[in-house]
Amino acid sequence: MSILVTGGAGYIGSHVARLLEERGEAVVVIDDFSSGFRSRVSGQVVELDLGAADATARLIDVMQEHGVSAVVHLAALKDVAESVAEPERYYRVNVGGLGHLLEAMRSAGVHQIVFSSSAAVYGAVQDVVVTERTPCSPINPYGQTKLIGEWMLGAAGDAWGLRAISLRYFNVAGAGWDDLADTAATNLIPIVVARTRRGEPAVVFGDHHDTPDGTCVRDYIHVADLARAHLAAVDTLRCDDGFVGPVNIGTGTGASVREVVTEVSEALGVPTRIRIDDARAGDPAAVVADPSVAAERLGWHARHGLDAIVRSALGVVRA
Ligand code: UFG
Repeated sequence: MSILVTGGAGYIGSHVARLLEERGEAVVVIDDFSSGFRSRVSGQVVELDLGAADATARLIDVMQEHGVSAVVHLAALKDVAESVAEPERYYRVNVGGLGHLLEAMRSAGVHQIVFSSSAAVYGAVQDVVVTERTPCSPINPYGQTKLIGEWMLGAAGDAWGLRAISLRYFNVAGAGWDDLADTAATNLIPIVVARTRRGEPAVVFGDHHDTPDGTCVRDYIHVADLARAHLAAVDTLRCDDGFVGPVNIGTGTGASVREVVTEVSEALGVPTRIRIDDARAGDPAAVVADPSVAAERLGWHARHGLDAIVRSALGVVRA
């Protein structure tokens, strides 16, 4: 029996695939290589666009050929600003791709899925600490596609017994292995690392937020911890009466933009340089996970804090 990892050549997916392989699981990676790299994948890999017209038929073949018993689904578009500019593409790829995947799983008799969801499903939260019972009200198409994905899984559960765990990632960063590091630099930590290395000041979006130092607070989660959460979810789904539903994946501890910038400068051994810019539209002041469901239902908790995340992102220390 094997585990199918969609998006397994991407930043997060490649960490999940490698960790599964390290513990002896048979893994099949599917990726369209639109943003993933072949160099990140070592085992079985099938090039496949989940949105293609023949995707369902090809997926059924892959599932039957490799005896797939569970799917970890990460293949998706994930840039919030891009999703605002191109909502149709986000709906087609993220929602349409999941539709093909679920059709194939139903036909091939595969009943377990771990879904890559996001704290973006919550939207502009009022409370700093977010639980899975916090109402979902996404404020951009990216978050909407993730919430619709969760609904699709719930509906498939009702219709044909699909068992699904949706991992709602908070702010993912760092690297578990240097060769799997995030190369996109679209989020705070890689952006600040790149700017600091170029000798440029970090740009801080607003310093008058309602937080202790005025800059936004987020819950940064090490990608190696996040990858372990996927394995814990796979294990939970293997127990027939195990938990299904959404789970926050964060540390429970927030860090401000200023603290992140300081951590990066210290790790690089350079003075902290900051340029304050306007606050970004729609940016909530503080978003921190309540990770207690992950602890209780998956037996998972984060091991790494901000210093380890930043140092691994620099390639200085491995997790
Ligand atoms: N920020 C800066 N300067 C920068 C970049 C970011 O000050 O150069 C700030 C942002 O304003 C925000 C924080 O750093 O307060 C983190 O910003 P990111 O863009 O890295 O992450 P977000 O919290 O905005 O978004 C993340 C994920 C999304 C997800 C969202 C909701 O990247 O995919 O969390 O959970 F949708």
